[in-house]
Amino acid sequence: MTEETQWVDAGSEQALRSKPVTAVRVAATNLAITFREGAFGAISGACNHAGGPLGEGSLEGDYVVCPWHYWKFHATTGLGEPGYEADRVPAYAVKVEGGRVLVDLKSATRRNKAKHAPHPLSREVVRAPGPIRVVGVSTTAMDPAHPRYSTSDVLLTTALEHAKAIGCETQKIDLWKLGFRNCEGFYSKAARACTWPCSITQMDKTDQMEVVYEAFVHWADAIVVATPIRWGNASSLYYKMAERMNCVQNQETIANRHLMQKKTAAFIITGGQDNVQAVAGQLLGFFSELGCHLPPFPFIAHSRGWSAEDMQNNVRSVKNSDSLRDGARALIDRTVSLSRLIVEGAMPASQLARGGRKAHALEPFEEAPVTGDAKG
Ligand code: FES
Repeated sequence: MTEETQWVDAGSEQALRSKPVTAVRVAATNLAITFREGAFGAISGACNHAGGPLGEGSLEGDYVVCPWHYWKFHATTGLGEPGYEADRVPAYAVKVEGGRVLVDLKSATRRNKAKHAPHPLSREVVRAPGPIRVVGVSTTAMDPAHPRYSTSDVLLTTALEHAKAIGCETQKIDLWKLGFRNCEGFYSKAARACTWPCSITQMDKTDQMEVVYEAFVHWADAIVVATPIRWGNASSLYYKMAERMNCVQNQETIANRHLMQKKTAAFIITGGQDNVQAVAGQLLGFFSELGCHLPPFPFIAHSRGWSAEDMQNNVRSVKNSDSLRDGARALIDRTVSLSRLIVEGAMPASQLARGGRKAHALEPFEEAPVTGDAKG
């Protein structure tokens, strides 16, 4: 005969009353124990979405809010928030005896993960037939009401016109035209809290970083990033984009999944003052870690040096420079040649073995801490 109850000790009443939500682990089960208006609740500590630790979440009314991406579950029934009740986590009977909070593990209700339509970006990465596709990303900031001459943007346009002339499909993304949110550091909460597609993209339909993800991951063979030099660095919009690309790079670490392994990347860097090599170092390093291949001499650059404060002359020198425009075209030739080799299968298969700082396998996932003085 099987036992109908399995009461386990989740911790002292005094300790568990002191916080609205407490993570407790008893008998190999992670729980989120809640205390609200004099009553305890116990639900599973694992979120339905991506396994986030509900016991480390917060209480909003009757609902436990997952700390990772804010899904909500009723503190005593485990049901999802109104409209999403079908998405439920196990809930448990709770009682208090002799100053201890007891949870009946046998009383667990069934977990149910409601079906959610997958985000379009999550589809398999398959290169569609067709000519080499080049996406250019202009990362300079611009006031649409008062556009100015941007040296990096103009050279990018020259590069894309040449790509078109040699038979490529092209697309230009002006980052300043896209409304997209900053990376909110989900990865800083836990490695697996950073998801592909990006959690922000999935939660916020107004976020337009999707345009970049779609182009980089699913559409392009070759990526050309153009940036001005801003106080010795790439543009702030470049960094904003790069931070949102974390979710692509993190897939290498979290899931050994290569979303951008058959791409080439090249760069256009211009500025009135110096630090070309430092800017190039950032761009080259980051796109290498995304899995991109680099053509020989993967960037072109222009700067007039530390002492050049006469920016109007910088614009004039770029406008008048045939060699920079030739350089932009030659950059495309090198990049597209490499992309052709990759697309036609002429390159040996890349060895995607893990190694190095960012590509190592994760340590086993740590269990939730026991914080409720549990004795289970
Ligand atoms: S909301 Fe809980 S893991 Fe995403």
